[in-house]
Amino acid sequence: KLEAVLFDLDGVIVDTAKHHYRAWKELANELGFDFTEEDNERLKGVSRVESLNILLEIGQVEKTEKEKEELAARKNQRYVEAISTMDESEILPGVIDFLQELKNENVPFALGSASKNAPAILKHIKLFDAFDAIVDGNSIAKAKPDPEVFLQGADKLGANYENCVVFEDAQSGIEAGKAAGMYVVGVGSADVLKGADDYITHMTEMNVERIRRK
Ligand code: G6P
Ligand code: MG
Repeated sequence: KLEAVLFDLDGVIVDTAKHHYRAWKELANELGFDFTEEDNERLKGVSRVESLNILLEIGQVEKTEKEKEELAARKNQRYVEAISTMDESEILPGVIDFLQELKNENVPFALGSASKNAPAILKHIKLFDAFDAIVDGNSIAKAKPDPEVFLQGADKLGANYENCVVFEDAQSGIEAGKAAGMYVVGVGSADVLKGADDYITHMTEMNVERIRRK
């Protein structure tokens, strides 16, 4: 049975991963080390503070809590600037059609993102009103891979966890979805993402029938 769908934002609805990556890379370079795309995989789905900790660990740099606050703010400032010019054209292929199909079939859907910038991004791409509920980095206490973000989303939609489908492009997010007892579709390659129930590379491959048959 299919009761509700939960979407991650970054890398699933819109390709903000490249903006996050660029902002973290600049910060790493300023701190005197490099930060590769492979390193960046570890930051996907992870909260801002935790991302900074991973970054500093990669560069083997130690900072005080106060310095970390400044670094996180500096990264976010750049990121906010990068996303400020985003518009609907940056919505990933197949997303609009799939959301429309869910609406036609009366399947409610919510956002489940770790990002505190999620509401702003949704407004930029004009999808803020499309979602039946929004759970983001401002309303959760425990970051992915903790299931909290998806449990809150399902609760807001009044759906049973086992009848929810999660779309995720990050390893931490797939783990969060599975920990929530949900069916998880990995958006990306099965070689990189482990443990999802199904995989797609683009939302164009998805339709309601495919997740009803799950
Ligand atoms: C998403 C992204 C992460 C990002 C996190 C926090 O999960 O995949 O890369 O670090 O959100 O984003 P924020 O906008 O709050 O810094
Ligand atoms: Mg993501």
